[in-house]
Amino acid sequence: MPVLVVVGAQWGDEGKGAMVDMLAQEADIVVRFQGGANAGHTVIYRGQPLALHLIPAGITHEHTVCVLGNGVVIDPKALLEEMEKLRSLGIHVSPDRLKISDRAHLTLPYHRILDAAREMAGSRLRLGTTRRGVGPTYVDKVDRVGVRVGDLQHPERLREKLQINFEHKRAFFNALPPEERPDFNAILDEILSYAEVLRPYIADTVTWLNQQADAGKRILLEGAQGTGLDVDFGTYPFVTSSNTTAGGACTGSGLPPTKITEVLGITKAYTTRVGEGPFPTELQGSLAVHLREKGREYGATTGRPRRCGWFDAVLVRYAVMVNGCTALALTKLDVLSGYPEVKVCVAYRFRGDTLTTFPAEVCVLGEVEPVYETLPGWDEPLSHCRSWSQLPSHAQRFVERVRELVGTPIAMVSVGPEREAVLSVPNAPNLW
Ligand code: GDP
Ligand code: IMO
Ligand code: MG
Repeated sequence: MPVLVVVGAQWGDEGKGAMVDMLAQEADIVVRFQGGANAGHTVIYRGQPLALHLIPAGITHEHTVCVLGNGVVIDPKALLEEMEKLRSLGIHVSPDRLKISDRAHLTLPYHRILDAAREMAGSRLRLGTTRRGVGPTYVDKVDRVGVRVGDLQHPERLREKLQINFEHKRAFFNALPPEERPDFNAILDEILSYAEVLRPYIADTVTWLNQQADAGKRILLEGAQGTGLDVDFGTYPFVTSSNTTAGGACTGSGLPPTKITEVLGITKAYTTRVGEGPFPTELQGSLAVHLREKGREYGATTGRPRRCGWFDAVLVRYAVMVNGCTALALTKLDVLSGYPEVKVCVAYRFRGDTLTTFPAEVCVLGEVEPVYETLPGWDEPLSHCRSWSQLPSHAQRFVERVRELVGTPIAMVSVGPEREAVLSVPNAPNLW
């Protein structure tokens, strides 16, 4: 009964999509368990990059069933657009291949307006969100005024839930210029039209997933974002609004902790972050530009340039701890070729003290100085390497040092975005 959780060990965009795509070759079911259309997971499909936002990255494998779990927040318009896009590429998307939890919450058109409003230029509330309405949808969920996917099956109940949700936001709507105020009837009609199309996909995925796990099916749980963006364990308040860590895989799918068999953390060989918030190893100047261009570090959802820096072992060690990672995958090792030396942050200096654990306060994290260990670089490009033994010795040494510093086995390294560029590390644990 292998149930494998894949989570980001940094601030998102670690290459989860590519790893899930590779692992899904052996999966029966691939489940998204949190986040919404804020995610951008890139896979290479027929030689071209394909960014998935809501639908699990396993969808390109015909043999898998994909699930949007109860913990996901679903913008029905974005979902339908994504389904159409996949169909236009010849990917089969039907109710026997995609199941949507009746317990998942809906992102409504005005959740995006609410998201954008707090992000207004000069706002002290600004977080640099993706403006996909994800935060406000989770706010409604926790405030118990949310509209759920299951409501789409009952038009009268949907109308009532939408009314409650509107009432809850009356003060905000009234403050908008009249021409921007959401119109109840127009939104109800819009959602009802989505309901018509989505109804066959709606299922009690909690019961179904548990039955499949009991039947011995191989289940892959695909996390979005990363540990540094987890609402509890990340750099609060500069986080997303869900639990991106392994515990979220249980609450967001209905599979209990006792059914999880492995937790794979994904980390880049360096670090990136999009949006606001502290980033101890962030680089400025030509080195940052070089990493960004070489690693093509531009957001898969918003196109924003990603902030770039050296590998931070303090952050990843913390991620290994809170996720209980049984292994890591180290991605984008190819991007580090060509530097005379590469650095790894092993601790933080804070007002004369050395910190080896990840602090809770962003004001501390914003002030720390990274303590670097310098390792010899390598000149050889790696993207053609197809086995561990083909990697130059200094690249192997880098991977081994990362393993020592974070204290967990590295099962795979990747040297390119394609499935074939994922290399197994000798003596690493078996994930499936
Ligand atoms: P995710 O959000 O964690 O799925 O990651 P993204 O898809 O947002 O960003 C990762 C980017 O790196 C994508 O463009 C991938 O195609 C690309 N990528 C993944 N693994 C590798 C790798 O090993 N080397 C290189 N050069 N690119 C990679
Ligand atoms: P994937 O799954 C990187 C960041 C945003 C912002 C913060 C809050 O592709 O790794 P939100 O829209 O979630 O309220 O924004 O979180 N963020 C991501 N950064 N990768 C992501 O997803 C992200 N999803 C959200 O940039 O800083
Ligand atoms: Mg991404």
